[in-house]
Amino acid sequence: MIKAVKGFKDILPEENFLRSFILSKAKSIFEANGFKEITLPILEKTELFLRSIGEATDIVQKEMYTFEDKGGDMLSLRPEGTASVVRAFIENSLFNSAGPHKYYYYGPMFRRERPQKGRLRQFYQIGLEFFSIDTPLADAHIIFILYSFLQSINIDFTLEINSVGCPLCRPEYERALKLYYKEKLNELCNDCQSRLEKNPLRILDCKKESCGALKKDAPKIIDYLCEECKNFHIKVKQYLNYFNVPFVENHLMVRGLDYYTKTVFEAIAGGLGAQNAVGAGGRYNNLVKEIGGKDIPGIGFALGMERLVLLLDKLKFEIRPDFYLIILGESSLKKGLEIFKNLVNSGLKGEFDYQIRGLKNQLKKADKVGAKFALILGEEEINKDEVIIRNMENGEQKSIEIKNIEGVLNEAY
Ligand code: HAM
Repeated sequence: MIKAVKGFKDILPEENFLRSFILSKAKSIFEANGFKEITLPILEKTELFLRSIGEATDIVQKEMYTFEDKGGDMLSLRPEGTASVVRAFIENSLFNSAGPHKYYYYGPMFRRERPQKGRLRQFYQIGLEFFSIDTPLADAHIIFILYSFLQSINIDFTLEINSVGCPLCRPEYERALKLYYKEKLNELCNDCQSRLEKNPLRILDCKKESCGALKKDAPKIIDYLCEECKNFHIKVKQYLNYFNVPFVENHLMVRGLDYYTKTVFEAIAGGLGAQNAVGAGGRYNNLVKEIGGKDIPGIGFALGMERLVLLLDKLKFEIRPDFYLIILGESSLKKGLEIFKNLVNSGLKGEFDYQIRGLKNQLKKADKVGAKFALILGEEEINKDEVIIRNMENGEQKSIEIKNIEGVLNEAY
């Protein structure tokens, strides 16, 4: 049997139901805050990701699905959305529009990581990006949106924030990190030994136990921020308080992508195991310029759909039919279909028996599909303009007028 590729999965109806719910909540909160949807290609020139995410990152070095196409171009399946939004922002001259330049997106991303709970090779991100404004108030607003969305779907999480400084102050911090780790070179994993020269910040992001243990005594970026970054960070925190968004500071958070400047943040959730970030993002003031655009700042975040699904309280989301209409014989069919049509058109979920079998068989079927109520309709009921409504959980049943069915079913919740 041919199976799906490792780390790629089918999304079956039950899960799609949860995903639709999550997505519609995200869309309504993003749109209320002024964001508009943008949909971008899954395939991009590899160079886009080399220049944005960074050549020394794990994503670019180990995880991209890259191939040469028949025309000789090097292409990659997108490992994240930000780089593509930035490319589209430049390519379509969106910066010339009046703004605000606020865009959100949803779609599959691809990273060849080791699959585990909450980590796939094809996963879906819901993300947003906001261009043109570089103020602490913009950062606080973006973090507020992330917070509001996670709250709206009742997820337990902690918001962690940090600043990774700017090209002015980060080199000083990198020097301090190099000094610290050089003394512990033998305790570092092979990857981190080579990261030390190229990109020491990445060592803080290493998931290996030995490297992780060295982290806690490492120099903290907060002690190396320039005046501008320091004041910016203080203001972001102040405005988060104004927005009533609770957060904790994590001065060792650096994020796995190279494009960040100043504010970075992650929403961390228990119950996800090692892959505990359900959403993350930050400011990237130099990215538009680095990809060939004007000097335009940006900030954004992305959430992992699969992780959101894992965290959702699933009990509240059952796709059970509200009713199963039991039509007793051909003579009741016309009236039965009229009732069925009215109920499903009003938004109630319903099923009926296409073979019009006997009562016992149909009740069994109603039970099997998990219907909350069975509605029983025979000639006798039709003559009285009634149906029998049976609660499938406790077996109680009574007659009600046909015109009241919709109200009774809706009231039952
Ligand atoms: P990221 O931290 O790499 O950031 O990914 C964001 C979220 O995507 C993670 O917090 C996680 O929930 C989900 N995710 C990442 N990798 C996987 C995976 N292999 N399987 C399942 N879920 C995954 C970014 O991608 C940035 N583009 C975020 C951003 C937007 N920064 C600024 N704007």
